Amino acid sequence: MNRLKIKYLGIELDNPIIIGASNLSKDLDKLKKAEELGAGAIVYRSLFEEQIQLERLQLDERLTEFNDINAEMLTTHPQADYSGPDEYLTIIRKAKENLSIPLLASLNAVNNDTWIKYARLLSETGVNGIELNFYQIPSDYDKTAKAIEDEQIHIVKEIRKNVAIPISVKLSADYTNILNFIKKLDLAGVNGFALFNSFFQPDIDIITEKHVKSFNLSNEGDYKKSLRFSGLLFENIKADICSSHGVFTGADVIKLILSGSSCVQVVSTLYKNGLTQITKMKKELEDWMDSKQYNNIDEFRGKLSKKRLSSNPFIYKRAQYADLLINSEEVFGVSK
Ligand SMILES: Cc1cc2nc3c(=O)[nH]c(=O)nc-3n(C[C@H](O)[C@H](O)[C@H](O)COP(=O)(O)O)c2cc1C
Repeated sequence: MNRLKIKYLGIELDNPIIIGASNLSKDLDKLKKAEELGAGAIVYRSLFEEQIQLERLQLDERLTEFNDINAEMLTTHPQADYSGPDEYLTIIRKAKENLSIPLLASLNAVNNDTWIKYARLLSETGVNGIELNFYQIPSDYDKTAKAIEDEQIHIVKEIRKNVAIPISVKLSADYTNILNFIKKLDLAGVNGFALFNSFFQPDIDIITEKHVKSFNLSNEGDYKKSLRFSGLLFENIKADICSSHGVFTGADVIKLILSGSSCVQVVSTLYKNGLTQITKMKKELEDWMDSKQYNNIDEFRGKLSKKRLSSNPFIYKRAQYADLLINSEEVFGVSK
């Protein structure tokens, strides 16, 4: 019996390690290799609104109008190429045919009609589910947090009406009250949440006095915000929780499952340590389960969630511990 089996979005996965959306999925050979090395599922890199718009536009005539959007695309995911939506649909269909593990598509649109149209087209490619890649960089002083969230909830409701396959939402951590937002998305029929995405952040080169474009990979230990929200959400929403952001090792996977996640998504660790990291993480998880005599993942999933904690129920809620702050010299030592 496979002890690492889990369910995410109602789909059975061989194990909880999912390859997150990235340019790794550009190459079908890499996807096959990831499958051989034991990935539980793969999220294909996103289809971006910009790719759709670029195809629709007479490029040379109206490019200026879309300058902002194009800049966003280039800077957020600098290695993205410009294949149009039809090409994307063909490639993802081919990837699905060639893989035996579940494959999720990922969509990042701007306009309502694009979200709905392409969610429907993606669902017809045979993929097992669609991850909706939501984010909003505040750029309008007059738009409220509620207006931003209402728009995104509306998009989810419309997609839910039009698409029968499972949908997940990948979020940034930058919502005002993310628990409230997630609860509303959960009620709108989202089957899973990928927490959290990471983004390009602007930086400045002080020699050239110019902006630099960089996409920083995550570092080990960056998973802690995901752990907090996994711990808070477990058994409080219907949807599954998939933790992401700085998940590097088997130990990280164990911690996130203990907090309440069903699975994890990994990207940076694969860029930094290679695809064989998948096998290593799986083995670490299995060895730990052996040492603790767990027969399956459900036996320890959520064991350290807020719901199940009888001692120290404040651990997920508090941002500042007075004892830690007051005794910080003892914790860190004092530099001379
Ligand atoms: C080169 C690169 C390309 C990415 N492309 C996408 C993408 O197409 N869609 C998306 O939702 N996230 C994309 N991401 C974000 C990752 O899926 C992931 O959410 C983020 O890197 C955090 O996970 P990590 O800490 O394991 O890297 C990309 C990340 C990198 C490094």
